[in-house]
Amino acid sequence: MPWPRRLAVAVVALAAAASAAPLPWLPLAADGVHDPAAPGLAFLQQPADALAPLPRDSAGNQVRWVQALESGAIAPRSTLLGHTPVRVLDQDLIVSKFGSMPAVRFPHRAHTQWLDCSNCHPVPFQEKLGANKLSMVAILNGEQCGLCHGAVSFPLTECNRCHSVSNEALKREAAK
Ligand code: HEC
Ligand code: HEC
Ligand code: HEC
Repeated sequence: MPWPRRLAVAVVALAAAASAAPLPWLPLAADGVHDPAAPGLAFLQQPADALAPLPRDSAGNQVRWVQALESGAIAPRSTLLGHTPVRVLDQDLIVSKFGSMPAVRFPHRAHTQWLDCSNCHPVPFQEKLGANKLSMVAILNGEQCGLCHGAVSFPLTECNRCHSVSNEALKREAAK
C-alpha cells in the first residue's frame, strides 16, 4: 500500500476508535444514585446529553467549567432576584511562590463569576495577600482551597492548574 493511502487508513481507524470510545458520564439508571426502576427516570435529562457539548476536561466531572462560561457555551442566570449586586473582581494574586512547585496563581475573576465575595471573605480567607497561612496539607485535608477543589470544583490532582506560574519568570520579573 502506498504511504498516503496507509496514512489515510490509519487516520480513519483512529477516528473510528475515538468515536467508539464510551462517553465518561454514566446514564442515570447506572449511576448508583437513581432508582433504575423509577418511572420518572425517562423524564430526566441524561448527564451525557447536557455535558457532552461543553468544553471537555480530563478530570473531575469532565467539563472545563471556566471555559464553558468564558466561551458562552453556558450562560447561567447570575441572580435569582435581579436586584442582587453581582461583583466580579478581575485580579490575579500569586499566593505561593519560590517553593519546590511552580507558584500558585489565584484568579479572582474565575471565582467571582461563580461566587460572591462573602463565600470566601472573611471566612475562610482574610482579605489580605499573605495573611492566610495557606498549606498544601490543609488543602488536601479539605480546608482552604480544598473546601471546594476536589469537592465541587476541579480536583486536587490537577496540580498545575493552581501551580501554574514559573518561579523563574517571577524572579526575572522582580529583577527588572
Ligand atoms: C486548588 C489549588 C491547588 C492544587 C490543585 C494543588 N495545590 Fe499545591 N498548593 C496550593 C497552595 C495555595 C499552596 C500554598 C501553600 C504554601 O505556600 O505552602 C500550595 C503549596 C504546595 C506545596 C508547598 C510549596 C512548594 O511549592 O513547595 C507543595 C509541595 C504542593 N503544593 C504540591 C502540590 C501537588 C504535588 C499538587 C498536585 C497533586 C498540588 N500541590 C495541587 C494550591 C494547590
Ligand atoms: C474563592 C474565594 C474567594 C472569593 C470568592 C473572593 N476572594 Fe478575595 N481573596 C481570596 C484569596 C485566597 C486571597 C489571598 C489571601 C492570601 O494571600 O492569604 C484574596 C485576597 C483578596 C484581597 C487582598 C488583595 C491584596 O492585594 O492584599 C482583596 C482586596 C480581595 N480578596 C477582595 C475580594 C473581593 C472584593 C471579592 C468579591 C468581588 C473577593 N475577594 C472574592 C479568595 C477569594
Ligand atoms: C468557595 C469555593 C472555592 C474556593 C475556596 C476556591 N476555589 Fe478555585 N474555583 C472554584 C470554582 C467554582 C471554580 C470554577 C469551576 C472550576 O474550574 O472547577 C474555581 C476555579 C479555579 C481556578 C481556575 C481554573 C481554570 O480552569 O482556569 C483556579 C486556578 C483556582 N480555582 C484556584 C484556587 C486556589 C489556589 C484556591 C485557594 C487559594 C481556590 N481556588 C479556592 C471554587 C473555589
